Amino acid sequence: MTGAPSPAQGPVPLACPALHERGFTAAARRLTAPDGPALRPVTLGGGLRAWAATGPAVARGVLTDPRLTNDIGEVGGPVQGFPDRRYPEDFFAHAPQLLSASGERHRGLRRIVAPYFTAAATERTGARLRDALDRIIGSLAGRGRIDIVTDLALPLAGATAGEILGIVPERRDAAVTAALAASGAVPGTEEARSAHHVFAQTVLHIIGAARRSPDPSAATALLHARQTGRIGNAELAGMLGMLLIGTVDSLSTVVPSGALMALRRPEVRHGLGTGHGGGPAYTTAVTEEILRLNPPFQHTGWRFTRDDCVLAGIPLPRGAVVVTSVLAANLDPAAWPDPLRADPLRADPARADAHRRTVAGHLSFGHGPHYCLGAALGRRLVHEALTGLFRRFPGLSLAAPLDGLTWHGTCLRRLDRLPADTCPRTL
Ligand code: HEM
Repeated sequence: MTGAPSPAQGPVPLACPALHERGFTAAARRLTAPDGPALRPVTLGGGLRAWAATGPAVARGVLTDPRLTNDIGEVGGPVQGFPDRRYPEDFFAHAPQLLSASGERHRGLRRIVAPYFTAAATERTGARLRDALDRIIGSLAGRGRIDIVTDLALPLAGATAGEILGIVPERRDAAVTAALAASGAVPGTEEARSAHHVFAQTVLHIIGAARRSPDPSAATALLHARQTGRIGNAELAGMLGMLLIGTVDSLSTVVPSGALMALRRPEVRHGLGTGHGGGPAYTTAVTEEILRLNPPFQHTGWRFTRDDCVLAGIPLPRGAVVVTSVLAANLDPAAWPDPLRADPLRADPARADAHRRTVAGHLSFGHGPHYCLGAALGRRLVHEALTGLFRRFPGLSLAAPLDGLTWHGTCLRRLDRLPADTCPRTL
């Protein structure tokens, strides 16, 4: 095979509408059509031609295949579509950090921050964030109308980034704004240049605060690694930026889309409240279904073929871009019968298909060596934010028409506002 030809004709856009948007069913059907190959040609946001793994088994294979690398520098030749165009995911491909590294370099970077994401560390961080969440939700008392994005998801994202990176409370809102602007800007535009400038300043502030901080955090660990020569300046900045964007983008996306799902589906809202006896196992399973159906990252980051190879029966040239469609994998009907239904009882051990939860768990947190480091914390926060919200406001109702809601982004499909009334409206 020579050169790096584009995938076959007629790729479908991978930027799927989110579950709640018109057109979702058609997009999901294209990606999940049972007669299609498990590796499908797609167009990513920005126009990049890529291949997407759509079935869960092939997706897991792609995410653990040593013939693929996250490190664009390891491809010994031209990479499809690069370097003449810029893409929304550029930061993750080029800044030196976990998601642009593979092999020993990736393991080395991961070892530096992993102690801040162990079960014990998650328990400590989670307990502090539960208090923060109580304050955030408590501050909404007495308000007739709230905005689930600006009043809940963004403050929670700020508090979480603050805990992980040692950002002082008065700088958290600005850090969230900077992260959203940097990850949402269209690469190559003036808006993107200015957003990246502000973002770089934010990262410098985090480094400055880490220098002065007596409290250990992922930021102080990275700074120490820089001071002892384990990483360079670019990796320090790339890792801090990645942790900030990863935290803010994921929570600001999944909390509102999960809340919207609960607002629209009585059985989901009931399950998050006191439904079915409100047992913790049941409500946790409801959250898990929300995460399956609302993956904040609709596809994983780019992987590149190191050499010509055959993947899932498809011959690919060196330098092909491969992603995993988290959304399509999570909607696989063989793993999730009636996949669009939120069914927490899928986890019920009494059910015949209960084993599927372990063998075919959803891919919203990825899989393999790059499995989300913040998965336990993210799960817990989404669960506590949504259960806390619907228990505090059992009569919460959507205060905007569905087609009046604006979704932004491609890989991330984020709502900028989600207004809701806290009391049932009287007619
Ligand atoms: C519900 C919330 C979250 C979801 C659904 C989520 C999802 C993901 C996914 C899909 C990946 C893998 C990307 C890939 O393979 O290309 C990932 C990686 C990662 N996530 Fe999360 N994430 C969430 C929250 C967080 C939080 C709160 C943090 C905390 C800082 C975090 C830190 C990370 C890191 C460090 C990685 C890179 C791991 C590696 O490359 O070794 N995530 N996340």
